[in-house]
Amino acid sequence: MSAPALRVTNITKRFGGLAAISDVTYEVLDGSLTALIGPNGAGKTTLFNLITNLFTPTEGEIYFYGKSLNGLSPRQIAGLGLIRTFQTARVFPGMTVLENVLVGAHRRVRSHTLKQMLWQASARHEERELTARADGFLEITNLLKFRDVAATDLPMGGQKLLEVIRALMTRPRLLLLDEPAAGLNDSETSELASLLRAVRNSGVTVMVVEHNMSLVMGVADQVMVLDAGCLVASGSPQEIRKNARVIEAYVGQEAAV
Ligand SMILES: Nc1ncnc2c1ncn2[C@@H]1O[C@H](COP(=O)(O)OP(=O)(O)OP(=O)(O)O)[C@@H](O)[C@H]1O
Ligand SMILES: [Mg+2]
Repeated sequence: MSAPALRVTNITKRFGGLAAISDVTYEVLDGSLTALIGPNGAGKTTLFNLITNLFTPTEGEIYFYGKSLNGLSPRQIAGLGLIRTFQTARVFPGMTVLENVLVGAHRRVRSHTLKQMLWQASARHEERELTARADGFLEITNLLKFRDVAATDLPMGGQKLLEVIRALMTRPRLLLLDEPAAGLNDSETSELASLLRAVRNSGVTVMVVEHNMSLVMGVADQVMVLDAGCLVASGSPQEIRKNARVIEAYVGQEAAV
């Protein structure tokens, strides 16, 4: 059997006295879609920051397809195909929707040379292929009609979808999405669900932090539940739905479960 996409072993992250992540051990199988859920402050974003080495673990080790990520810079980790998005959408101002998406295809390029690079790329054969891929993602998310408008003119939900698409254009091996549905309206959320299904079907391994239970339960193979830094449950959506500790973790939360 091949190595799991991600193996997190006994990982702990302390900030002063607070253990934001406490002795978490977990495996993400190649090609699966894992939803990471838990109340505010549970440590979900911290876990992503640890996986991408924005934070150094206090204890524990993280392996990406069997390779330890210990000591690698966030840039080196991205270079391996481990790509993440952030909780708040960040689009490049002064560029169109399509240009923002194509940036993802040039992930090693510095931002001040992007415009120039994109112009040069347009002369190349691969440009057509990249644009076709970008258009495919824009179509799934109903953004194709906006492809030539300034990205900053998109509604917030569209900007968040754009960030996911840009990440997909890097052809990630493992994609970490931090609350991609936050701020999305109902139709944008269902467009995101379609995009996630398309991504999973294309074989990309995904971890997604999400509060929206109907979205999570509809697309995830596995669910991991964090509460106060601890992994309190994991399993299939069906198993998680019945799990008492999950319901407990959400007591007092907005009707999330
Ligand atoms: N850089 C930091 N320095 C100190 N404490 C931090 C830092 N980052 C996160 N924390 C703390 O770690 C805990 C987990 O935070 P984290 O942002 O990972 O939660 P989360 O599950 O992503 O929450 P949310 O659903 O609100 O996004 C919180 O108590 C937070 O205050
Ligand atoms: Mg968070």
